[in-house]
Amino acid sequence: MSSSRSDLPAGVVTVPDYEPLARAVMTENAWAYISGGGADELTMRWNREAFDRIRLAGRVLADLSAAHTRITLLGHELDYPILLAPTAYQRLVHPDGELATVEAASAMKAITVVSTEASVSLEDLAARATGPLWFQLYVQHDRGFTRELVNRAKGAGYRALVVTVDAPINGVRDRERRAGFHLPAGVERANLRGLPPIDEPVPSMLDSPLFGGSIRQAATWRDIEWLISIAEMPVLLKGILNPDDARMAMKVGAAGVVVSNHGGRTLDTWPASIDALPAVAEAVDGRGVVLMDGGIRRGTDVLKALALGANAVLIGRPYVYGLAVAGAMGVAHVLHLLRAELEVAMALTGCATVADIDRRALYPSAGS
Ligand code: FNR
Ligand code: LAC
Repeated sequence: MSSSRSDLPAGVVTVPDYEPLARAVMTENAWAYISGGGADELTMRWNREAFDRIRLAGRVLADLSAAHTRITLLGHELDYPILLAPTAYQRLVHPDGELATVEAASAMKAITVVSTEASVSLEDLAARATGPLWFQLYVQHDRGFTRELVNRAKGAGYRALVVTVDAPINGVRDRERRAGFHLPAGVERANLRGLPPIDEPVPSMLDSPLFGGSIRQAATWRDIEWLISIAEMPVLLKGILNPDDARMAMKVGAAGVVVSNHGGRTLDTWPASIDALPAVAEAVDGRGVVLMDGGIRRGTDVLKALALGANAVLIGRPYVYGLAVAGAMGVAHVLHLLRAELEVAMALTGCATVADIDRRALYPSAGS
């Protein structure tokens, strides 16, 4: 893997070890954007605390001679149930940006979900990838441009569309605003070149700050139905926390949902993703796939998510930190560390396959 910072850093033995090293190599501008969350960052904190509260049940002497972590997900045979979540502007942290990420994911046989707001175009990423890519779509105020994005993803061979529905507007990102976050020269929304600007008067203090403006062009369920009708590939909705929304997603024909609070970056005090997962999984009831993200830092977190109803998980900040510190090697290392820890967690809860992971893996055993 080519990278300008390709050597693995000494002393990194866990995923969280990358965070302080990443901070040391990032600008304050990038750090505020990537590590930050919404408002008081309570949801971001809860994403972690909720995982830490869950205990695992021990099981000994299970037959692990044929154990493995393979799954099938929407037709993909994956060696382990961990995907890379869409994250914007990766050139903020490494000159190769998303190119290094897809290179690492391809080498590690993991799916990358490429962000609409990537700093490398979706076509350039498809040209670099040797493994499957999914495209994360933000519905744009210009629906013609949105259709064009979907067609471009189709044309470039992307295999699923992940429509992010929890961020029709920017979250209240206090840390980002205090840091005066801006895109530095050389970092752009590469997929959005040519997007016509939103035609909106500058509001005065007397105007309704949101309801008078861009929210009027935000996506609704009708847009999801339209996207499903044109996508010609599975459509997942990312940012589902409410079981009623999950049922609606199934009703309109979505292939799955991603239980997510956007890494705590949109509305603060939304629940931790792992707390929202069981009810959403129950509502989906096997009719679609259930993915989750938010706070995954350990293999035990992956196992807990699978036990509570996820088919697979995604990671966001962890691999961005790996990218910042060691380019493609760092991203690959983060995936490797999590997979290795997942295997340990499976072995010590007596689970030989992902299909064996259910609530019996949790303490006290919740039966199955
Ligand atoms: C994100 N996330 C995100 N989600 C999305 O649908 N489109 C996007 O462009 C982005 N961009 C983005 C940038 C950065 C810097 C972060 C940290 C996150 C949210 C992301 O896909 C995922 O939901 C969270 O990152 C998961 O939480 P963890 O793993 O970061 O705790
Ligand atoms: C974010 C947007 C890009 O979380 O989704 O920063």
